[in-house]
Amino acid sequence: MISKIIVTGGAGFIGSHIAEKLAKDGHEIVIVDNLDPYYSVELKKRNLDIALNSGDVTFVNADITHLESMKQIIDSTVDYVYHEAAQAGVRISVEDPFKPNNINVVGTLNVLKASLEADVKKVINASSSSVYGKVSYLPFDEKHPTEPVSPYGVSKLAAEHYCRVFYEVYGLPTTSLRYFTVYGPRMRPDLAISIFTKKMLANEPITVYGDGEQTRDFTYIDDVVEANIKLLNCKVTDGKVLNIGSGNRISVNDLIITLKYIIESKSAVEYTVSQKGDAENTLSDVSRAQKLIQYEPSISIEKGLKKFVEWFA
Ligand SMILES: NC(=O)c1ccc[n+]([C@@H]2O[C@H](COP(=O)([O-])OP(=O)(O)OC[C@H]3O[C@@H](n4cnc5c(N)ncnc54)[C@H](O)[C@@H]3O)[C@@H](O)[C@H]2O)c1
Repeated sequence: MISKIIVTGGAGFIGSHIAEKLAKDGHEIVIVDNLDPYYSVELKKRNLDIALNSGDVTFVNADITHLESMKQIIDSTVDYVYHEAAQAGVRISVEDPFKPNNINVVGTLNVLKASLEADVKKVINASSSSVYGKVSYLPFDEKHPTEPVSPYGVSKLAAEHYCRVFYEVYGLPTTSLRYFTVYGPRMRPDLAISIFTKKMLANEPITVYGDGEQTRDFTYIDDVVEANIKLLNCKVTDGKVLNIGSGNRISVNDLIITLKYIIESKSAVEYTVSQKGDAENTLSDVSRAQKLIQYEPSISIEKGLKKFVEWFA
């Protein structure tokens, strides 16, 4: 069945991929994005063009922190809302906690309120592994304590709770997907894999924060999109959070070795003090998503990095 679907943040990395896939599947898509200049607006316009050319897609330049705009856009003709708009990025949240709070918490609340009034079938909320923060045990299952170590993590956790409460208190179906560091074509230029690749292609030195032994679960964009698509017409996840990761982790040092090998780069590696707010280790337990939506991450880090480098180069 064809649905009318709002994708907030659809000019961004993940949102543009979700919008593109949904449009190719025949749905009517409305992208809502304010083209925030946190990173290159040119890149966002390029993402947007790809989405706009993939089917029945329109773009509305609007700010999710404006409740009235959200009420106008998310009207009774809308079936689903994919909520990807956010101030992403841990480091910027350490510098300025107000902006992520405003966009990620107040903005999410506006999207939820408008969706409730419009009686949409479901809101699928982009959350983050940053909600876990301090590690009690690994891998993180969804019952792991949530003690974020950055203002960004706090804002994503608050947004998740609003999603759950809108389901439990008001009956609006919502699901939050906790993405574990997502990478792939169109990825944000402020993320490590993007920065390393750009420098390695130019054989310039790269900087690692900390000793490089910190580990990350990196998730390829196609697996993230697939998980999102599976949530259409799915009721078993209502009111829940699901981890969306690869289920594997790699240290930053090993990531660099792999990338250098793929690129055949001669970049030197320099180490400096670790950054405040950065998580030490992340690793997902995806068994809940496997059970409820048959989520099967399929792209290994080696394969995913090769695909990313090909696109980037
Ligand atoms: N990329 C990752 O590794 C990752 C990991 C965990 C969670 N997430 C979450 O996934 C979602 C998408 O992340 P991304 O990496 O694609 O980020 P992105 O920055 O590429 O995309 C976010 C989009 O939201 C838009 N936006 C920002 N403020 C807005 C506002 N006030 N009104 C309307 N639009 C606004 C931006 O212009 C941007 O196009 C975010 O919610 C992020 O927190 C991402």
